[in-house]
Amino acid sequence: MSARWTAIVMAAGAGTRMRSALPKVAHPVAGRSIVRHVIEAARAADVQDIVVVVGPDADADAVREASGDDVRFVVQPERLGTGHAVACAQEAASNADYVLILNGDVPLVLPDTLKRLKTAVADGSDTDLSILTANVAVEAYGFLELNGDRITRIVETKESDGIDRSELRHINAGQYAVRGSWLWPHLERIVPAPNGERYLTELASMAHDEGKPAIAVLAEDPFEVRGINDRTQLSEAEASMRARILRAHMLAGVTIIDAASTYIDVGVMIGADTMIEPQTFLRGATSIAGDCVIGPGTDIRDSMLGEGCVVRHSMIEESVLESGIEMGPYCHVRPKSYLCRDVHLGNYAEVKASRLGPGTKMGHFSYIGDAEVGEGVNIGAGTITANYDGTHKHRTTIGDGAFIGSDTMLVAPVNIGKGARTGAGAVVNKDVPDGMMAIGAPARIRSITDTSEEQAPGR
Ligand code: UD1
Ligand code: CA
Repeated sequence: MSARWTAIVMAAGAGTRMRSALPKVAHPVAGRSIVRHVIEAARAADVQDIVVVVGPDADADAVREASGDDVRFVVQPERLGTGHAVACAQEAASNADYVLILNGDVPLVLPDTLKRLKTAVADGSDTDLSILTANVAVEAYGFLELNGDRITRIVETKESDGIDRSELRHINAGQYAVRGSWLWPHLERIVPAPNGERYLTELASMAHDEGKPAIAVLAEDPFEVRGINDRTQLSEAEASMRARILRAHMLAGVTIIDAASTYIDVGVMIGADTMIEPQTFLRGATSIAGDCVIGPGTDIRDSMLGEGCVVRHSMIEESVLESGIEMGPYCHVRPKSYLCRDVHLGNYAEVKASRLGPGTKMGHFSYIGDAEVGEGVNIGAGTITANYDGTHKHRTTIGDGAFIGSDTMLVAPVNIGKGARTGAGAVVNKDVPDGMMAIGAPARIRSITDTSEEQAPGR
């Protein structure tokens, strides 16, 4: 039977250096909270059982939310240090053969690195503890005193005088793999530091003194070990994560014209041969199929785009676009919209909570909200749905093949029939049956072949 692993994510710290009402580990990096990055890394390193240690106060709610609902939580009733934080998770992790302990504020750590950390203590190893390190400027990190790849002890920089902060050292990155049967009794023996905190890092000297020193595992990429304590480090982490995300997309066949002005959240999916033009933001749960051109100047959030879409200088939120859609410049597709294949939106088109059927065209400064629009509809320049009467929102339906003349006002609730037409400037407040025409303000209904009226359909 394979060994059972539990990950303990320490996330109860105060994070005072962020100077924020939001707990530190709940701050986002590339669209995902810091603590969630850590959780995802553990999962990708094949540790599915995850316990997050949270604080006792109201702050903890935000940490819980930022962690997601597929993890377990334990409360650290008082902030008595990292050693104490792990001890609080003992009962929750009592079934584990091995424990992966992760600082909740180190979001860039890579799954492969955590796998190497795990392997270093796995069955057959001569040590019970492995600790991740990188050779970087020591700053305020703790650092390892090493004998080869074995750790003698960990020195906390905060506690030591006369250390040159810029000096390169093998720092303690804050990730540990430990055999459970060794961890729990040793945690109890950690003596509090002068500030009253029980430092998890004391485990290293204990292991050394017992003749089974901990092993240091080197991170490949020094960015991986960056802990976030203040907003300058938050910004650096964002930049590193962004570079990593862009690189992965490029290697998977996405063209990114200007990496410096392209912002893609972690988890966004993009198909091969899609081109991302400058100044583009792809956020949240967004997926874009192949052969699209997105940007320049485009902002897409929580949306799904099919193949071959072209979106220029536009914003799309919480919507679905089928394939072959062309849009922009300056369109705004607001939440709950569904655009069928080959829809065309031209300059300054706004769509909200509406469905536009295949091949429907809306070329110039129009607003369609709360509407169901059929296939092959032509929506003339300046058309709007007057969907709000000051109290309620009302729906508009437009049948297949309808032709809406320029500057039509559709006063909802209203239905425009299949193949119906409206004249330029019509104010339509009554239903227009299939194949009929509405002209004037307020509009009167005519047969399309009736030429006695003054106006021709607008264009
Ligand atoms: C810690 C390490 C240091 C290491 C650095 C790496 C200790 C004593 N020091 O220092 O050697 O170089 O991380 O980033 O561990 N936390 C709790 N409960 C507590 C205190 C902290 O859950 O009582 C959590 C924090 O939320 C944070 C993590 O533990 O996610 C680390 O705590 P932090 O105070 O940031 O430790 P550092 O000073 O960065
Ligand atoms: Ca820290």
